[in-house]
Amino acid sequence: MKSARKRTSHSIEMRIFVLLFFTTIFPSVRADLCAHCDCDFLSHTVVCNRPSLLVRTVSMLPNIQQLHLNSLNLPQPPHFLFHPNLRVLRMSRCGMHEVPGSTFLPLPGLEVIDLSNNHLETLPPTVLRSLKFLRVLILTNNRISNLDQLAWILAPEVVLEQLDLSGNPIAIATSMSVFPPVRQLFLSETRMESVNETAIMFKKLPGKCEKDVCRHIPIHNLNISILTTIDLSSNRDLEIDLGALNVFSNATYVDLSNTRLPIGFEEWLERKSRVKSLNISHCQIPLHEDTWTSCGQFLHSMDISGIGAKRLRLSRFCPIRTVFARDNLISNIYIDSVSIESLHLERNMFSEFPIPPPGVELTELHTLSLSHNLMTSLPPHALQSYPNLQHFDVSNNQLSEIDPQAFPSIGLGLISLDLSSNQLSSLPHPILPSLLLLDLSSNTISHLDPHFFKGLPMLQQLRISSNPTLFSRCPNHESPCWSDHLDELTSLVDLDISNSGLEFSLHLRHLRTLKSLLLRGNEIRVIDAKSLPENLRTLDLGENRLQFTSNFSKLDYLKDLRVDQNPLRCDCSLYDIVPHLLNQSQISDPLLYYCFSGSWQYPLLPYLASVKPCIDTTRNFYSVLITTFIIAFAIVGSLIGGFLIYRKYAERANFVYKRISLMESPVRL
Ligand SMILES: *[C@@H]1O[C@H](CO)[C@@H](O)[C@H](O)[C@H]1NC(C)=O
Ligand SMILES: *[C@@H]1O[C@H](CO)[C@@H](O)[C@H](O)[C@H]1NC(C)=O
Ligand SMILES: *[C@@H]1O[C@H](CO)[C@@H](O)[C@H](O)[C@H]1NC(C)=O
Ligand SMILES: *[C@@H]1O[C@H](CO)[C@@H](O)[C@H](O)[C@H]1NC(C)=O
Ligand SMILES: *[C@@H]1O[C@H](CO)[C@@H](O)[C@H](O)[C@H]1NC(C)=O
Ligand SMILES: *[C@@H]1O[C@H](CO)[C@@H](O)[C@H](O)[C@H]1NC(C)=O
Repeated sequence: MKSARKRTSHSIEMRIFVLLFFTTIFPSVRADLCAHCDCDFLSHTVVCNRPSLLVRTVSMLPNIQQLHLNSLNLPQPPHFLFHPNLRVLRMSRCGMHEVPGSTFLPLPGLEVIDLSNNHLETLPPTVLRSLKFLRVLILTNNRISNLDQLAWILAPEVVLEQLDLSGNPIAIATSMSVFPPVRQLFLSETRMESVNETAIMFKKLPGKCEKDVCRHIPIHNLNISILTTIDLSSNRDLEIDLGALNVFSNATYVDLSNTRLPIGFEEWLERKSRVKSLNISHCQIPLHEDTWTSCGQFLHSMDISGIGAKRLRLSRFCPIRTVFARDNLISNIYIDSVSIESLHLERNMFSEFPIPPPGVELTELHTLSLSHNLMTSLPPHALQSYPNLQHFDVSNNQLSEIDPQAFPSIGLGLISLDLSSNQLSSLPHPILPSLLLLDLSSNTISHLDPHFFKGLPMLQQLRISSNPTLFSRCPNHESPCWSDHLDELTSLVDLDISNSGLEFSLHLRHLRTLKSLLLRGNEIRVIDAKSLPENLRTLDLGENRLQFTSNFSKLDYLKDLRVDQNPLRCDCSLYDIVPHLLNQSQISDPLLYYCFSGSWQYPLLPYLASVKPCIDTTRNFYSVLITTFIIAFAIVGSLIGGFLIYRKYAERANFVYKRISLMESPVRL
């Protein structure tokens, strides 16, 4: 990718030069910026992020519009040469302590400035005055403590789209503090103490002026009428007053997570707020009867995780689409809101599968997650009220039974189904024609119906690891086994059967699409690479009982082969896999990779240097065999010859004898 980009760069004759000063080499080296940074000439972007690079002066060809100098060592910004086309400048994680007032003068076209994650304590009052097009100013995670110094910092008439002051230890704010006009204001983790309809108060910081007048900013110093987004999240102990909520009623995106909300919040949400996206996760909020029932008239997305709710009710008129209600105590929901598309109820107290009220079908719902709850079964018709469900997660429950009729027999368009970490020992065989991902790992499955895979024609990923009894009914090659039907999964790409007591090599030759096969932690003794799919890229055979590997040279596409923690023989059969082994980062660890010769255990890596292909030894073996054969032939031949001679003599002896007897007969005659 990178080399292709570079070639393009030469063909369109675009070069950028910087003056690069390396600490160790000559004081100044003029070099192509693209030799040290990533240049993407489609998006006109240059990205430099190698900490060893010391950039002092930057001059760019006119086309460049974005420059990202991230994670460099820049106590001060570099010196920029005049470049009116630069629109985006990011200097994040550069250890920057100050930005001189004249820094951006050569860059009058800047729209986005990102100075996040530095050590800035302030910005000089004039530094942004020349930027008539500035829209986004990101100052996240710096050391700015005095808001007064940010007043009147912008060019006249400029209204910021976004100002991010999150993660700054703000301690000083007075009536002189005026927020720059801004539509999206982010003040997460800024040491706020309280907000009401007249003022924002910051916490006392020892060493700074601790008087109330020094640390509160009148709310009318913020131009509320243009505000669309307000983020006051993660200000621990921040008390938000009902009056303050009324001030922010017109904002469409409100993040108040990890704060304290007033009595009346729900009423505000229903009656006054025009919010579309609301996050009040992990807030302290007084709930009536531990039940969450409210919804805003325009609310599309809501996060009410971790607020201690026990019940959730959403009425028919709630226009909500996405609900996160994780980490609560909910055991009971009543959702009548038919617009809902995505419902996340992880880590709650459901012991029974939630179904909507009678007569309600949640036809828009495509994602339902109920993982980490307490359910023990999926009842008949469980999914009937969710006819268009695509992603269904009931992992980490206590399911021991899935009713054969839990899944409707036709028409369900499930794409992913996660049943992992339950107590399932058997499964029905639902017909899920569009299922791509099935996770059955960490259960106690001991049998899968022979028709199970027939109902999953599109399946691409099957995870069935950590089912210790998975092969208990078919301990060896000879007995019929559920795994005989795996080749019906003709679209399968990933298969994970780790930690499942498998003792034999599966016949997967026909799975032409299979790219990743994980068989770690089983009891396999013999693996025949010829029974594996030829397009395999990843094969994990670690922690098995393999002594020999063979025929691996036939797996042309194999990229990642793991055979650690097997009792391998120090033997020519390893020759085929040497390139793969050398690629493993852990190959030099003798606790993972070793081989046995006689009863001695050796580290594998040194052995690999001397291993020879088996062909030579086989040829030797054959010549020995042939010699032996010839000698044996000679011996056998002489024995046979001797025997024949003996027979002949014996016969003659007989004959002689008979003759004698014959001779005797006449005598008798
Ligand atoms: C708002 O908070 C400020 C600072 O805590 C306080 O001085 C003022 O009286 C409060 N106003 C109202 C209406 O509560
Ligand atoms: C708020 O911003 C709008 C639009 O830029 C402007 O018309 C109005 O005068 C501003 N109000 C205050 C109080 O600054
Ligand atoms: C919200 O917007 C409405 C009309 O768009 C306006 O009448 C009202 O004053 C605004 N409220 C606030 C708090 O800005
Ligand atoms: C809500 O806020 C929390 C904490 O700030 C965050 O982890 C979570 O991702 C947010 N929720 C959404 C839906 O963005
Ligand atoms: C390797 O393949 C050959 C035929 O190509 C076969 O005779 C031999 O048994 C295979 N080795 C193993 C261990 O399966
Ligand atoms: C070893 O790793 C390199 C780089 O990741 C890769 O290009 C090469 O194909 C690998 N070789 C084998 C035999 O997997």
